[in-house]
Amino acid sequence: MALMQASHYTIATVGVFSWVSLQPSEDTFTFEWLDTVLDQLHAAGRIVCLATPTAAQPAWMSQAYPDVLRSDRTGRRNHHGQRVNYCPNSPNYRRFAVQIATKLAERYGSHPALVIWHISNEYGGICMCETCAEAFRTWLKKRYSSLDELNQRWWTPFWSHTYTDWSQIEPPYDNGERLTHALTLDYQRFQSDSMLECYKLERDAIRAITPDIPITTNMMGTYPHLDYRAWAPEIDVISWDCYPWPSADPGDIAFLHDLNRGLKDGQPFMLMEQTPSSQNWQPVNALKRPGVLRLWSYLAVAHGADTVMYFQWRRGRGGCEKFHGAVVEHSGRSDTRVFREVTQLGAELASLGATTLGATTPARVAVLFDWNNWWAIDSAVGPIKQKEYVATVRKHYRALWRRNIPVDIVFSDSDLSNYDIVVAPMLHMVKADLPAQLEALVQRGGSFVTTYFSGVVDETDRAFEGYPGPLSKLLGIWVEEIDALYEGQTNQIVMADGSGSYSCGRLCDIIHAEGAEVLATYGQDFYANTPVLTANRYGAGRAYYIASDPEERFLDTFYADLLKQHGINALLEAPAGVEVALRETDERRLLFVLNHRAELQRVQLPEGQHYTELLSGSTVSGTLELAAYDVRILSQAQQ
Ligand code: GAL
Repeated sequence: MALMQASHYTIATVGVFSWVSLQPSEDTFTFEWLDTVLDQLHAAGRIVCLATPTAAQPAWMSQAYPDVLRSDRTGRRNHHGQRVNYCPNSPNYRRFAVQIATKLAERYGSHPALVIWHISNEYGGICMCETCAEAFRTWLKKRYSSLDELNQRWWTPFWSHTYTDWSQIEPPYDNGERLTHALTLDYQRFQSDSMLECYKLERDAIRAITPDIPITTNMMGTYPHLDYRAWAPEIDVISWDCYPWPSADPGDIAFLHDLNRGLKDGQPFMLMEQTPSSQNWQPVNALKRPGVLRLWSYLAVAHGADTVMYFQWRRGRGGCEKFHGAVVEHSGRSDTRVFREVTQLGAELASLGATTLGATTPARVAVLFDWNNWWAIDSAVGPIKQKEYVATVRKHYRALWRRNIPVDIVFSDSDLSNYDIVVAPMLHMVKADLPAQLEALVQRGGSFVTTYFSGVVDETDRAFEGYPGPLSKLLGIWVEEIDALYEGQTNQIVMADGSGSYSCGRLCDIIHAEGAEVLATYGQDFYANTPVLTANRYGAGRAYYIASDPEERFLDTFYADLLKQHGINALLEAPAGVEVALRETDERRLLFVLNHRAELQRVQLPEGQHYTELLSGSTVSGTLELAAYDVRILSQAQQ
């Protein structure tokens, strides 16, 4: 407690994975130790994010009720152990989870330290047990009006896979039916829904007792198995665990923060976990260099985080995380680099107080990400194995991020009416309501940008009879063939205006303009001189199709031009490696200036502008000098 106070630690997440310590047998509950922990934290002036322990069931439960155990992708039941090893559809698991959540809410609901509930931990994975198989069939019956409808949607006559009875439908086992794309896709949806159901059961039990205490569960960025956008309405405050590679491009980290801010349409989120120093589960676990913890914490705040938290407080002496970074190491000492950095940051955040809390980010540009689309892309066999959906979305995002303009991450069901530019890379699956929104955007003068492999399938993964399907009218093109290129093989994007050429690769859609203007053509191969970049006028705006995967230099030029057309300027002109991000409240405009480089950098502030720098309290103007990995928060009163 003394070290927590010294480091300005305000909030502690408590109770994650503590199930057996709270319930050592089916009928025994032992809350006393947790009483002490909460009381001590409260006495020390700390607040608590109290977790339900349901991410790892006790051994007695797995032993007495084996149906709580998860099964692998062949349907074989796992042995007890590890964590997140429960079946999300097991009635016993659900019953016990609701019971312990209820007991925690009853016991601690009015504890003065409690400020937020944390349900379970990092829901995830996939279970293919018999209980799930049965629940899946029930889920399918609700989704499809009849077996005939399902057979049609899933295209099952292919290879004689038509189902003649619901009971024949199985999960997409690795040693079973794993090649029916629509089945795989629906199973992903079903498992995401099943875990969400577990979350909701615990949430509802808690909410009934503590209706005024917000509830969260920690997410994992672009985690492949859960459709977090579908989860978001059920969660009061988004929280997520940020574990980038030490060498990660900060633009990719920014993307993940923006994604979390987008989940609830701009609502600030909690940075629930980050390591203060190193992870332990990557092949090489480099330390965050001095200053990087502070820099990356402000990176989160700059993109919408209203908390900065860590995993973990102190290293445990055993178990597989004994080498995971912690604020306090095995030695228990506070005269360490990490403790000093955490303390400095804690003091700064304390001095900022509520200044940044609740601030939002106004963005005129949006990048669209969609889990269902990702699942459809990844389950497709062909035209190339490594589809790289997430990497492609990030690549487009980074090109915008490098220009220091605010970007929102949106989803297929987001309201797009406030954006000037919407970028949807690899929009392979087009959900029913989306084309009308995109058409409206362009009609009123907005720009829509999409790429190769878009407009290919509907929501049940059936190919449209002609691509880009329902986007054809908007884009003014049709796709005749898709070429896949070997690694290292490239083609060129040759600009029609003579401004130059760029390399491209991976996938090359061979397209025809049907109304669209051809802005660039391929440079070689049998489809040389055919369109690779098109722009279609539609109402007052334009819809762009980038038919291949371009080098970053192309995206830099392309987005620079597009932003200029829309009069969208950088928040500040800054050298490469310096990021500028914006959050604002009714009172203030806050510019976060982040030096991602290990060297001093200078930013020229706009002529005649004066800002209050919040971390030092000084007034700044003219040239801003940022030491290696340094951060400044420039505040101006709203006009
Ligand atoms: C998170 C998890 C923590 C801890 C951490 C290690 O995914 O929630 O419990 O395992 O990773 O990086």
